[in-house]
Amino acid sequence: MKIMKVENYQNMSEKGAQFILEKLINREVNVLGLATGGTPVGLYEHLIKKIHNKGLSLSHLHTVNLDEYIGLAADDPNSYHQYMEDVLFKHIDIPSNNAHLPHGDAENVTYECERYEQLIHQLGGVDLQLLGIGNNGHIGFNEPGSPFDGRTMVVDLAPSTIEANGRYFKDPNNVPRQAITMGIKTIMDSKSILLLASGVEKAEAIKELIEGEVSEKTPATVLQKHPNITIIADEEALSLVNKTIV
Ligand code: F6R
Repeated sequence: MKIMKVENYQNMSEKGAQFILEKLINREVNVLGLATGGTPVGLYEHLIKKIHNKGLSLSHLHTVNLDEYIGLAADDPNSYHQYMEDVLFKHIDIPSNNAHLPHGDAENVTYECERYEQLIHQLGGVDLQLLGIGNNGHIGFNEPGSPFDGRTMVVDLAPSTIEANGRYFKDPNNVPRQAITMGIKTIMDSKSILLLASGVEKAEAIKELIEGEVSEKTPATVLQKHPNITIIADEEALSLVNKTIV
C-alpha cells in the first residue's frame, strides 16, 4: 500500500489527476474505473485541463463506473450517468459507447448486474480503479457487512449514506434507497487502485482502512490485501492514523 499525504483537497485533486494522466499517456490504462461523489470532482477538473494541455486523445479508452442508483434513468439530473457527463465525459473525446455505467432503470436489475460484470470481463478487466471512501468505510456502494467475494449486485444503501448523499438532491427525501454497485471482488480484481480521501469526516474510515482489522464490517479494510493500491489523502483524512506517513 502506497500512501501519499498531501496538504488539502486541491493538492489531492492535482496529484490524483497527474497520477492518472501519466498512466493514460503510457497506455498503461485502457480500461479506467471511475467513481462519483464529491471527492473526485476536483480530480476530474484537473484531469480535463491536463488532457487538453497535452492534446491527448482518449478515443481508445473505456471507462466503467462503480455504481448507479436504482430507478434513475440516464438523463435524470441526479443519476451518476448525468454526473459523469457533466464533470468529465462532455469535456473529453471518449466515445459515448465506451463510457459504461450500470443502468439503474433496467427492467431486470439482476440481469443488468450480470451484464455489467460480463462487460468488465469482456473488456479485459479494469486497469486502474478510482475510489472514494464512505464515512462508514464503504467502497462503491458496498456497505458495512458486504461480502468480500461479492460481484456486481443490487444493494440497499445504509441510512448514513442516504443522509450523506441527500446534499446532492433538491429534496433529500428523494435519494434512492437502492443502487447497483460493482462488488468488492470486482473492485479487488482491478489491476491497480487509486483511492482519494479528503476531510476530517473521512478520518475514521481511513484509519480503519490503513490500520484496522480486515473485516467485512468495514469494507475498505479489504484493500489492505490489494497488491497495487495508492492512497492520496490529505492531512485531515490522515489525522487519526498512528503510523508516520510523510
Ligand atoms: C461513488 C462511490 C462512493 C463514494 C463515497 C464517498 O461512485 O462509489 O463509494 O466514493 O460515498 O463519497 P463522497 O466523495 O461524496 O464523500
